[in-house]
Amino acid sequence: MPLDLTEQERADAGRELVALLDSYERSIPARPIVPVLDREVLRGLREDPFPERGLGVARLFRDIRDKVLPNSTTVAHPRNLAYVLGPPNGIAPYTEAIAAAINQNCNFSQLSPAASVIEQSVVRWLTGLFEWGDGSGGIITDGGSMATLNALTTALHEHCPDFRATGLQAGRAPLVLYTSQEAHRSVQKAAAILGLGVDNVRSVPTGADFRLRADVLRQAVEADRAAGLRPFCVVATSGTVATGAIDPIGEIADICADHGLWLHIDGAYGGLFVLSERLRGSLAACTRADSISVDPHKLLFAPLEAGCLLVRDRRKLADAYSFSSSYLPGGDDSLLVDYMDYGPQLSRGFKAFKVWSAVRAFGVSAFRSAIDDNLDLARYFAERVSASPVMELMAPVTLTAVCLRITTIAESAHDSVLRQLNADGTALLGPVRLNGRDGIRACVTNYRTTKADIDLVADRLAGIAAEG
Ligand SMILES: Cc1ncc(COP(=O)(O)O)c(C=O)c1O
Repeated sequence: MPLDLTEQERADAGRELVALLDSYERSIPARPIVPVLDREVLRGLREDPFPERGLGVARLFRDIRDKVLPNSTTVAHPRNLAYVLGPPNGIAPYTEAIAAAINQNCNFSQLSPAASVIEQSVVRWLTGLFEWGDGSGGIITDGGSMATLNALTTALHEHCPDFRATGLQAGRAPLVLYTSQEAHRSVQKAAAILGLGVDNVRSVPTGADFRLRADVLRQAVEADRAAGLRPFCVVATSGTVATGAIDPIGEIADICADHGLWLHIDGAYGGLFVLSERLRGSLAACTRADSISVDPHKLLFAPLEAGCLLVRDRRKLADAYSFSSSYLPGGDDSLLVDYMDYGPQLSRGFKAFKVWSAVRAFGVSAFRSAIDDNLDLARYFAERVSASPVMELMAPVTLTAVCLRITTIAESAHDSVLRQLNADGTALLGPVRLNGRDGIRACVTNYRTTKADIDLVADRLAGIAAEG
């Protein structure tokens, strides 16, 4: 078979893979976080014609080792503290290989029976964290952005029963969506994709703590309603991308209840902090939401991609997404779910597998302690910043994002500090802009980061600050 491996090639590929994974793992701390690009190699990767006759397994692995890895960002580096992007957990590369081997199509259960129950078990565990019961459900997505897009789609179908037939063409008053000024851009993006129009997204101001102001939200909903518009949904954030602020979910839920609005919680960054005893109370009101997005590819350290949309009433997902078609068998086995009825995709990979495997292999408590360790490290970093005469915090540290500015340099110079830290191998941190002021953001979503790493970053920042 031209696309099969021979027994010998299989053995070679297995050996090559194991050796590559092992040497990559060992090399992580010594690798540059952002590589110095070999542009010639990259040009070759882009432009070399595909060979008519295959190069074989050994040559393929050599190219991966010599050309791909050196030009790839070391996401797993312990001082990768930028954005919300952690290292994959240790078992992930192996289970990803198995997922590729069995290639389940998680659209309907005939093509993926075990996968269907595994996805259900992951979803059930996650909904349980928010204390939702049997009627709840959800679907693994490509990430938090897709989860929010799916949530808003579901909210639209719920709010406008004729949405499937008429879309937004029925010529009625505009639907209005509410979120905070600190919301992730995926909310606006979803509104644009769905045809709601970003002009119909109200970015409600936040207080000094970067949490949505519920009093302003209530006024905005009432004003829009009085003006004949159609408020339909609030997207609250439990863990804003910049500062980790948790919106006042309980108060927002009251407003949603009073006005019949769908409450979606963007928990892509912060939702899974519910695993930490310390934050469970702050996230308790999430149980009142209609839907929540969470991102296993962030706090559960699943390799990209794995997001998840959770809905309190899973029938609402089916209302939005279930279509019948003569060429696809619909199942009626109560044990199995046809996930094509819960989201926009037909062909779908087995993303739930990497989440399920890791939680089974390491146990829930390993994830709890990784999250708690990250919280501790963020707090420690914040203490170092607060104790420094040349740095200051720009926002309270609620989760693991630490936003700071150096007081001895011009605001516009923070970008060059980021470049400096990256170039000298100290760390990859990200930029932040809060209340119109520029600064630096470190986000500890990395189970490899240690206190020594934080000290190294804080010392270097203090050194740069002292130089002025
Ligand atoms: C609050 C928040 N929402 C949404 C997203 C987008 O998630 P994803 O990158 O998985 O699409 C992020 C990403 O960092 C986030 O922090």
